[in-house]
Amino acid sequence: MNAMEEDSPHEMQHPAQSSSGVVDVPPATEAPPVLRASDQPPYLPSPDDDNADTPMENTFNNADPSTMSVTSSVYDFLEENGRTYHSYKAGKYLLPNDTRERERLDLQHALFLLTVNGRLFLAPIGDNPRNVLDIGTGTGIWAIDFAQMFPEAQVIGTDLSPIQPIFLPTNCRFEINDAEEEWAFTKRFDYIHGRAMASCFSDPSSVIRQAFEACAPGGYLELQDGVYPFQFAGPTQPDPNNAMYRWAGLIYEGAAKAGRPLNRVRNYKKWMEEAGFEDVVEQYFYWPNGTWAKGEYYKTIGAVFQQNLLAGLEGMSLKTLGRLGWSTEQIMPFLSEVREEILNPSATRAFLPILFVYGRKPLSSQIGTQVS
Ligand SMILES: C[S@@+](CC[C@H](N)C(=O)[O-])C[C@H]1O[C@@H](n2cnc3c(N)ncnc32)[C@H](O)[C@@H]1O
Repeated sequence: MNAMEEDSPHEMQHPAQSSSGVVDVPPATEAPPVLRASDQPPYLPSPDDDNADTPMENTFNNADPSTMSVTSSVYDFLEENGRTYHSYKAGKYLLPNDTRERERLDLQHALFLLTVNGRLFLAPIGDNPRNVLDIGTGTGIWAIDFAQMFPEAQVIGTDLSPIQPIFLPTNCRFEINDAEEEWAFTKRFDYIHGRAMASCFSDPSSVIRQAFEACAPGGYLELQDGVYPFQFAGPTQPDPNNAMYRWAGLIYEGAAKAGRPLNRVRNYKKWMEEAGFEDVVEQYFYWPNGTWAKGEYYKTIGAVFQQNLLAGLEGMSLKTLGRLGWSTEQIMPFLSEVREEILNPSATRAFLPILFVYGRKPLSSQIGTQVS
């Protein structure tokens, strides 16, 4: 019986990982440990902080169009089935970029934070990261949070879609580019972050190698991602006709057919080590697809993940199931069944393992040729 089940005889815990380099995960009923205050500065100054009344114009800027690295054509989103998709490198990424998807991404940001007790990162990056990169930044919510936490840092977020806000902390900016192209950054980064990128790259290992080149000696790469396929709790596999079970298999199959297999997240540690990162640490967490799991921690995560799944179901399915030859007319009624399944508390108990992986570029690393 799976440790997450309500009727499990065990106190519910994150299944601990014991192999070398993998950190034990704390019991689910307790929140993961909080870093020292110096590791994780507060989001906002306290009211009696001298800097608390910094005039708004000193904190935020209005993006200057003359410095934006994008042309207006990247805003000509492609429309299909009432959803919009990125136009720069059109067709590369399978999910939409419209308001519905942006809201889902922001909810998912909250879910990632809940998972690790509000932490934006697990890597021991110290108190003073200077140059920070967020690849595939989405709505930029992580990059903006990070920039506000570390006002001395310069944070760059990149994406195929220009879906980031215009009003930004002055130490945060966004670029439209493809992380699978050769990286042309003129500086080296103390910290590179990539989250929820499982379905983005045809060759994640080459992106990891580029991240290694772009890291400053002693700098960290951290990847946070879902480990597909979905797992199912319980003594037996669900009925093969179960809609949630079928959907989980179909998106897995469709993503592979689209050249973006979802099964590669487990290789991140290996690829980071092969690229040259040292002290690579993996830490697993779990997102149940509803409130069926035991304990306050999983119930909260499950409630939010359930909403996130419902919000993302259509966007995740249209192109992936489309690649398997499904028409929109077939997809939509099927998704209604999946929705019902997700909302039925006594139904399928699915969960998604979530993996955080981070590693450090050795201090002794040679300066590469790619960045100065
Ligand atoms: C699931 S979203 C995650 C967004 C963000 N990292 C977060 O966690 O909120 C994946 C993002 O990666 C972007 N993306 C996909 N392929 C990319 C590529 N080759 N280069 C840069 N960004 C990419 C997508 O446009 C999308 O915004």
